[in-house]
Amino acid sequence: MAHKLAFVLSSALAIQSVFAQQPGKIPEKHPKLTTHKCTKARGCTAQKSSLVIDWNNHQLQQKDGSSCAVGSAACLDDATCNKNCVVQGVDYLKAGVRTSGDSVTLNQYTPNGNGGYNHASPRVYLLDKKGDKYESVKLTGQELVFDVDVSTLPCGMNGALYLSEMDMSGGKSKTNPGAAYGSGYCDAQCPKLSWFNGTVNTGSLGACCNEMDIWEANGRATGYTPHPCSVESIGGCTGADCEFNGVCDKWGCGFNPYAMGRQQYYGYNNSFTINTSKKFTVLTQFITDDGTTSGTLIDVRRTYMQDGKVIANANATSASGREGLTSITDEYCDAASTEGKRLGGLATMGGALERGMVLIFSIWNSDGDFMNWMDSGNSGPCNATEGDPKLILANQPDTHVTWSNVRWGDIGSTLPKAGPGPVKPTSPKPKPPHN
Ligand SMILES: *[C@@H]1O[C@H](CO)[C@@H](O)[C@H](O)[C@H]1NC(C)=O
Ligand SMILES: *[C@@H]1O[C@H](CO)[C@@H](O)[C@H](O)[C@H]1NC(C)=O
Ligand SMILES: *[C@@H]1O[C@H](CO)[C@@H](O)[C@H](O)[C@H]1NC(C)=O
Ligand SMILES: *[C@@H]1O[C@H](CO)[C@@H](O)[C@H](O)[C@H]1NC(C)=O
Ligand SMILES: *[C@@H]1O[C@H](CO)[C@@H](O)[C@H](O)[C@H]1NC(C)=O
Repeated sequence: MAHKLAFVLSSALAIQSVFAQQPGKIPEKHPKLTTHKCTKARGCTAQKSSLVIDWNNHQLQQKDGSSCAVGSAACLDDATCNKNCVVQGVDYLKAGVRTSGDSVTLNQYTPNGNGGYNHASPRVYLLDKKGDKYESVKLTGQELVFDVDVSTLPCGMNGALYLSEMDMSGGKSKTNPGAAYGSGYCDAQCPKLSWFNGTVNTGSLGACCNEMDIWEANGRATGYTPHPCSVESIGGCTGADCEFNGVCDKWGCGFNPYAMGRQQYYGYNNSFTINTSKKFTVLTQFITDDGTTSGTLIDVRRTYMQDGKVIANANATSASGREGLTSITDEYCDAASTEGKRLGGLATMGGALERGMVLIFSIWNSDGDFMNWMDSGNSGPCNATEGDPKLILANQPDTHVTWSNVRWGDIGSTLPKAGPGPVKPTSPKPKPPHN
């Protein structure tokens, strides 16, 4: 044992002399999470993988323990940062992340030990089995299902499960440990972060990439939204490319039952079709024109299950008055978002989902707009001010979201018993399979 330990230590030292934001003394212990991959032929197989919290939750420190914030003399650019800084592991419980078996719970606030709270608001990524790369989730022509408990998410909170087309290594290089430390975040809002794909973001790049919001919700409102971009994998934007009319469809063509005239569909008690005060199941299917995983994405469908019952998605009406909308098709998106159409619509989204995207879980609220775009005014029953994070913290500091039983695979394979089974593409007419 002693011999083995000595070996591990010396190899860690060897790595330290090469890696720059090399692991510091505080170890990074990824919370374990079991997910399932499913096929029609063989059913579902458990996969033991883990989660990693975003890079920015990891402290960069100088070797003497003092800070190494980006922009400080110790970390002005890659060269100085590589020379001076180590990256420390995260205490996941303090960061608001708990897993158990196949379930993950995220807390917006965590007790700070002095009777107050830390603003945790974690965002975590699914790693592959080995834990040094992200799991590449490919959903074109496939489906994904999970259970979710949103019962403690009040107005203004957003518990989100979504996909971004990040670099699968997280920008791993000789000087950055990449995905193992949650590096390389991007999304369709092109956020300008202090790091970009594993390097110090000295060029003020926005990190743009295709984003598929499978689930953004609290107990009062919900939506799912494709956000296609004209870049493959993470792309850095500057100037107008980062804005509206730039390289990503920032608004997206979301499907929110409340916004589409179905105000009794989703809410806190049994007077709604889905009673959000208890757990339910969410199935999302990515239907292609030819039924294969390499076809063109034409339809993103939603089905719910609760108390053993299959519940069809809301049969909704668009803002422009079109009735009978039950899923996201190009026709629906073209009417909802000219930006999406310009960027290739569902076909572009399907390209990213075919190449592989990173599965992300997050919980957040918003000082700027109180999440009104999701749950207030036209979009939900919340008033314009009750989503203020100050009120949420005062009234419900324990606000959290739990996802469990995440499975994905062939259409009709993830819920062999209770599910709605395979669905056939409807519009446009399916083409014969490729030969
Ligand atoms: C991100 O980093 C990876 C790994 O170093 C690299 O292959 C890829 O080209 C990078 N992408 C961008 C846009 O910098
Ligand atoms: C359910 O919630 C709605 C909206 O808050 C409320 O108007 C209604 O009275 C509630 N119904 C029951 C049965 O509790
Ligand atoms: C909705 O579900 C909760 C949790 O099971 C339950 O307490 C409540 O009674 C349900 N709502 C109604 C109106 O039955
Ligand atoms: C949706 O509602 C329309 C009427 O607005 C009806 O014609 C259509 O059959 C419904 N679709 C489904 C799938 O229930
Ligand atoms: C918004 O809702 C909260 C909580 O129900 C309530 O206390 C507040 O008075 C409402 N504000 C307005 C402007 O209606």
